[in-house]
Amino acid sequence: MKKIRLGMIGCGNRQIGHMYGVEEFPGAEVVCVADPIEERRKAAAARMGCSRLYRDHNELLDNESLETLDALIIAVEPTAHIDLETRVVKMGIPFLVEKPMTLNLDEARQIAKDVEASGLITAVGFQDRYLDLIEIVRDELSKHSPGGLVYGSWVGDIPSVWWWQKKSTSGGQLVEQSIHLVDGLRYLFGEPLSVYATASRGIVKPGETASAEYDTDDHSTVVYRFKNNFTATLVSGCYSRDVRPRNGLYITLDDMVLDYRLRSNLIITTAKETRDIPLRMEPIFSLDHAFFNAVLTGDKSLIRSDYPDALKTLEMAFAANRSMESGQVIYFDEKE
Ligand SMILES: NC(=O)c1ccc[n+]([C@@H]2O[C@H](COP(=O)([O-])OP(=O)(O)OC[C@H]3O[C@@H](n4cnc5c(N)ncnc54)[C@H](O)[C@@H]3O)[C@@H](O)[C@H]2O)c1
Repeated sequence: MKKIRLGMIGCGNRQIGHMYGVEEFPGAEVVCVADPIEERRKAAAARMGCSRLYRDHNELLDNESLETLDALIIAVEPTAHIDLETRVVKMGIPFLVEKPMTLNLDEARQIAKDVEASGLITAVGFQDRYLDLIEIVRDELSKHSPGGLVYGSWVGDIPSVWWWQKKSTSGGQLVEQSIHLVDGLRYLFGEPLSVYATASRGIVKPGETASAEYDTDDHSTVVYRFKNNFTATLVSGCYSRDVRPRNGLYITLDDMVLDYRLRSNLIITTAKETRDIPLRMEPIFSLDHAFFNAVLTGDKSLIRSDYPDALKTLEMAFAANRSMESGQVIYFDEKE
C-alpha cells in the first residue's frame, strides 16, 4: 500500500499529539520535520524515523515539493504563521494546520480565498467536531425544533507554553483555547447573528502566579446569538489552579437537556430517562485520519472543517475580542 509522505512543521507539544496520530495510521509516514529548536526537531525525526531535518518552515519549503511529500501538518505558535500557509498553498501541498490558524485575520482571509480557488485539501485542528459525542448531540438537535439556551465553559489554569501568557502572542484564551467551544457552537447551531463580550483581569498576579510578561485576560464572558434562535453564554477563565472546574456545553431544549462534558461524556436528560454516554474515541486520531484519508482518496467530504470553514470560527472569536475591547455588540451581518 502506498503511504502518504508527511512533513511536520513545528515539533512542539501539539505536534507530539499528531505523531501519535501518524503512528496509529499504517498508511502514513513522516519524511521531514522543521523546528528552530534543534533538540525538538532531532527528537521528532528520531521518533518518526526520518532523516530530513530543517531549521524552519522556509528551509523545509525551499527543499521539499509535491515530488517529495504529499501533505504537511503545521503546529506552530499563533504568531509564527507569517507567509507559511501562503507559500504552502502556492506550492499546492495539502495541509492540516492547528487552530488558531493565525492572529492576522487579513492573512487568513486571503489564504481562505486562495484555498477555495485552488481546491486544495486542507483541515484545521478543530478535533472536537470528530467526536462521537458531538455526533450524538447533532443527531438529537436535528430531532428538535431549533431554539434554546446554551451555557459553555472552559475554565482552568495557564498553559505552560511561553506565548500563551501574552494576548499579543496567543490571541487570548477565547481565540487560542475556548475557540474549540466557539467552533462547537457554530457546528451545532449554525452561523451567529451577534456577539457581546466582557473580560477581566486582576486575579492572576504577573511574576507570582504567572510569568512577569502575563498580560492576557483572567476571564471572559461571551454571549453569542445564533440565527436559529439559540443563545449561548460562553465563559473562559485561566485563573483556576489545583482544581479542575467542569467544562463543556450545557444545552437546554424544550424537553431535553444535553450536558456535554468536555471530551469526557454526554448526559442526556428527558422526563423519562437519564443516559450517561462515555467518550469512546481519541479525537486527534479521528481528525488526523480523516485528513490522511482525504489526501489518499481525494475525498474532501471526510474533513469536517477546512481552512475556509475554520475562518468563520476564527472571525467569531476575534469579533468577541473586539467586543471585549469596545464594550459594543458586534453584528456579523446586518443589524438584527
Ligand atoms: N487542537 C488542539 O487541541 C490544540 C492543542 C494544543 C495546541 N494547539 C495549537 O497548536 C499550535 C502549537 O501549539 P504548541 O502547544 O505545540 O506550541 P509549542 O510552543 O509547544 O510548539 C510550537 C513549535 O513551533 C516551532 N516553530 C516556531 N516557528 C516555526 C517555524 N517558522 N518553522 C517551524 N517550526 C516553528 C517552535 O519552535 C515550537 O517548537 C498552537 O496554535 C496551539 O493553539 C492545538
